[in-house]
Amino acid sequence: MTEERGKEGRKEGRKEGRKEGWKEGRNPGAEDAGKPPDGGRWCSSSRRRLVFVLLVLAVVLFFYNATVKDLLPAWNPAKWGLASGGQRHGVLPPQPRAPPARPTPTPPPYRSPGPYLVEYPSEYHFLINEPTACERRKPFLVLMVPVAPDDRAHRDVIRSTWGGERRALGRAVALFFLMGLHAAPAPPDERLLRESREHGDLLQSDFLDSYKNLTIKTMVMLEWLDAHCRGAAYAMKVDTDMFLNVPKLVGMLASAPRTGYLTGRVQGGAAVHRYPSSKWFLPVEVYPAAHYPRYALGMGYVFSSDLPRRLLQASRHVRAVYIEDVYLGMCMSHLGIGPTDPPSWSYFQVEPRRYSRCAYSQLVAMTTHPADDRLWVWEQFKRPGQHC
Ligand SMILES: *[C@@H]1O[C@H](CO)[C@@H](O)[C@H](O)[C@H]1NC(C)=O
Repeated sequence: MTEERGKEGRKEGRKEGRKEGWKEGRNPGAEDAGKPPDGGRWCSSSRRRLVFVLLVLAVVLFFYNATVKDLLPAWNPAKWGLASGGQRHGVLPPQPRAPPARPTPTPPPYRSPGPYLVEYPSEYHFLINEPTACERRKPFLVLMVPVAPDDRAHRDVIRSTWGGERRALGRAVALFFLMGLHAAPAPPDERLLRESREHGDLLQSDFLDSYKNLTIKTMVMLEWLDAHCRGAAYAMKVDTDMFLNVPKLVGMLASAPRTGYLTGRVQGGAAVHRYPSSKWFLPVEVYPAAHYPRYALGMGYVFSSDLPRRLLQASRHVRAVYIEDVYLGMCMSHLGIGPTDPPSWSYFQVEPRRYSRCAYSQLVAMTTHPADDRLWVWEQFKRPGQHC
């Protein structure tokens, strides 16, 4: 109680004092003679000044909040190591690691993916290309043959045999050879350029061509198909040492699904090779599962033209192992699509068989024997008349 009273009293006293002060300061006499002697007007102009100052402050604060912060969207204390986190853990906040602007595009230092993975995805470029060939020829089926740059002999045999089939069952067929570089970097290969001018069927990308890089070759093939040949209904990857019965293949495709389709010699439940001496060794660290998903053997597989794009997307999520056909199987599995079994098991044959006009007419693709005279076989096979 008494304290309350005392407070009241002090308040009253202060009020009085202020009032007195006003009066004293307000009417000092002759000095202020020129100014309006009215205390009320002085008071209101002083308030206006105060209000003005407050307004200016408010505007400045408003603009700081609304504009300055918006102009600095990149400012992120956590990013620069200035967040309280660092101090909370009792360590010095780390030094800012990167400049605020995007760093200049210096290439990252080379890091080998190791012996079981390949450099993919990566940006490869075509040095020899046929970007409009598919547009012009509108093939139903595109045959894509991976080949080494110096393997002219194989290319010529293929051009003179099944690769020379431009139509089958009334449908257009196109053929392209796909290769990487002999050595990187390499000067333009004059012989290849001449061959390309002559045949218009060469595609060369700038990755290093080697057995261990076959996965890169296949992925670059998919990139090319997606970029330049999406109008074709199907594409087939065929190895150089294959015999291909093009009419039988086109006949099979005529009644095949147009999307989500891949067929060939399908392997199911294949065990991963865990002995390091194997040609297809894959350590547990690279691929932990004991078995591969179902995949089509690399010697020759056919797929619908929607798959290149989808497989390329999947490849961003699946580590690129060096075993080309297994890797496509992994990407298919990632997409939730399995390879389709061919209508007959005799269609895709791994083991070479001696030439028989009847037997050859009933298969789609078969590995040839190195000693086979493929030109002679083709000549026999293409003779008019009944096959069986
Ligand atoms: C595979 O190709 C890449 C890209 O050209 C290259 O850096 C790498 O050395 C090649 N690997 C092999 C084993 O040839």
